[in-house]
Amino acid sequence: MAAVLNPLDYRPEDAAFNADPFPLYRRMRDEDPCHWSPRLKAWVLTRYDDVRRACLDAGMSSDRLRPFFASMPTPEQERIRDIIRYLSAWMVFRDPPDHTRLRKLTASVFNVKSMHAMRPDVEEIADWLLQRIGERTQVDFIADFAGPLPALVIMRMLGVPREDLEKVKTLSDRMALFIGSSRANPEKYDIAEAATHEMAEFFRAMIAARRTQPRADLLSQLVNLRDETEGQLSEDELIATCILLLFAGHETTTNHIGNGLVALLGFPGEMARLRADPGLAAAAVEELLRYEGPSGAQVRVVAQATELHGKTLRAGDRVFLLLNAANRDERAYPDPDRLDLSRDGVPHLAFGFGTHICLGFPLARLEGQIAFPRVLDRFRRIEPAWTRLNWFDSMVFRGVSTLPIEVAR
Ligand code: HEM
Repeated sequence: MAAVLNPLDYRPEDAAFNADPFPLYRRMRDEDPCHWSPRLKAWVLTRYDDVRRACLDAGMSSDRLRPFFASMPTPEQERIRDIIRYLSAWMVFRDPPDHTRLRKLTASVFNVKSMHAMRPDVEEIADWLLQRIGERTQVDFIADFAGPLPALVIMRMLGVPREDLEKVKTLSDRMALFIGSSRANPEKYDIAEAATHEMAEFFRAMIAARRTQPRADLLSQLVNLRDETEGQLSEDELIATCILLLFAGHETTTNHIGNGLVALLGFPGEMARLRADPGLAAAAVEELLRYEGPSGAQVRVVAQATELHGKTLRAGDRVFLLLNAANRDERAYPDPDRLDLSRDGVPHLAFGFGTHICLGFPLARLEGQIAFPRVLDRFRRIEPAWTRLNWFDSMVFRGVSTLPIEVAR
């Protein structure tokens, strides 16, 4: 057993680690599955069974932002007033009973039926984006396709006009600086705060407009929901939920489609299989999510002290559940580093598990199932056109900001 586990100490600023974290994840699973990271000041779980169990464990709290905010000195809190105000109302950062109420209300209008009804819109938007690429042979797959597709889908569902795409993307990327970036940038909080403020005001105005003139969109349904069940979804909660759906609705799906293409390029045989048989799309999406999902980790706070692999996790300790490490656990998947579109077995954890399992997963799946076959059908040849991929310096978001490819029809 290696005595020194320094390499296991996660270094988000290390581009080499970010380029391929999987060998290190394997070591962590084998040598120290409940690892204390001094750098993160947190426990890091990497085995499938441990991560799955932690997702189901009521003793692991999702209410991690409010204690963090409360620990800040008042001037710091003032500096990120709107981030605190709205992110504290995101269901993803709440425990029952608040979580149950927020999720139940939102799911009464944002559900499998309403998501599946988006199929023609997703197809139309995907085709429009591919058509916009036209005869170009140099493509940035993120800017040209994987970025705008999910953003335009959730915007259309909510009722946000297509012309606002640039604005929404910019604000959302800036908010991501607070949520997902580990880079020590002193300005990142100010940038994220300004973006959160602007996003909230944007939805406040749209909500006011829907109150006087409802439309056939999710936003009007959310507004009515609040009106009909007065006192159940406050104005702040309504705004926060819109921001959450918009934010969660595209950042992750963009990275799923981007990471998925990188994975397929790494396994040309599997890419050829999918191209030849679009009927494999549903299985392909699940395997691509397992192989390199866009949510690298989710974070919990220990609410009740517990023991794991001989370590004591005390109340208040933070725990990183590394979904992407769990999804490559050889204890759960034979030959886990191989992409195999016909793999079966235990379900992957890319959408989380348990109470907080991704609310938007039917939509995310639908988008992937439509996107991959269409891209492969449109371009008979796709080649990487990068020398090195720049993976995000984030544990939470796994993806790249640009993905240059060369294509031929
Ligand atoms: C491939 C794409 C996606 C992945 C991999 C993904 C992953 C996740 C994960 C891992 C969680 C659990 C977080 C936690 O437990 O702390 C989550 C929660 C959530 N996701 Fe997704 N997501 C995706 C797409 C979407 C989409 C398209 C939407 C909505 C339009 C969405 C909305 C949400 C919401 C609202 C939650 C909070 C659920 C709760 O706390 O009960 N996600 N997602």
